Amino acid sequence: RETLPLTGKKIIVTAGGTREPIDPVRFIGNRSSGKMGIAIARAAKRAGADVCLIYGSISVALPKGIRLIHAETTEKMLSAVQEEFPKADALIMAAAVADWRLKKVADQKIKKSMDQANLDLSLVKTPDILKTVSKNKRKDQLVIGFAAETNDLLKNAQRKLKEKGADYIIANNVSTDSFGSDEDKIFILGQGKPVFELPRMKKTKVADKIVNLLQKSLFIR
Ligand code: C5P
Repeated sequence: RETLPLTGKKIIVTAGGTREPIDPVRFIGNRSSGKMGIAIARAAKRAGADVCLIYGSISVALPKGIRLIHAETTEKMLSAVQEEFPKADALIMAAAVADWRLKKVADQKIKKSMDQANLDLSLVKTPDILKTVSKNKRKDQLVIGFAAETNDLLKNAQRKLKEKGADYIIANNVSTDSFGSDEDKIFILGQGKPVFELPRMKKTKVADKIVNLLQKSLFIR
């Protein structure tokens, strides 16, 4: 059998958006399509890796020949990641994780009455998967996160790299790029490394670049 660059490596990729239920029929969600994460999962598989894709809400087809785990909410995604990560060499958190969940999910559909103009929803913070996993990872494991920002992209991405403790943060500007698009322009920020800017390209090409980064980093540790 042919040996590929990532043969024997176990890679977890998260993709899509998590959803937080309000009641049995409603949820809080986001515009993530899952395209970037799925492209990364495919690219890692082409490079020979044993890939596990943990996905939330997506608007594109799921890849074939890849182990799939569905996780609707942030808490469920955290459990799935924590279950899989000990066996993995790397985690790529491309999912747009909901930062807030309902303090109390209604058991029944919330009814609207004619005389009621407002509905107040009380939200609480969800756990930060990237931060939790980065903090507890082994030295031989690699963690890559994303930063999707509408303003002060590099400043916010730099702060995320520091606060979350991931090995790399892939930064992109969501006011002009990304959500639902087939193209992306990214910056790669690594601990103690100069910022690396890539030109705008197809998400499938961006995925190859990220897999390249993975290969290099996994084999120089
Ligand atoms: O803090 P922010 O959501 O901008 O950080 C983005 C990165 O953190 C992404 O890689 C995302 O998957 C991850 N994240 C997470 N858990 C959260 C929120 C974000 O793992 N609760």
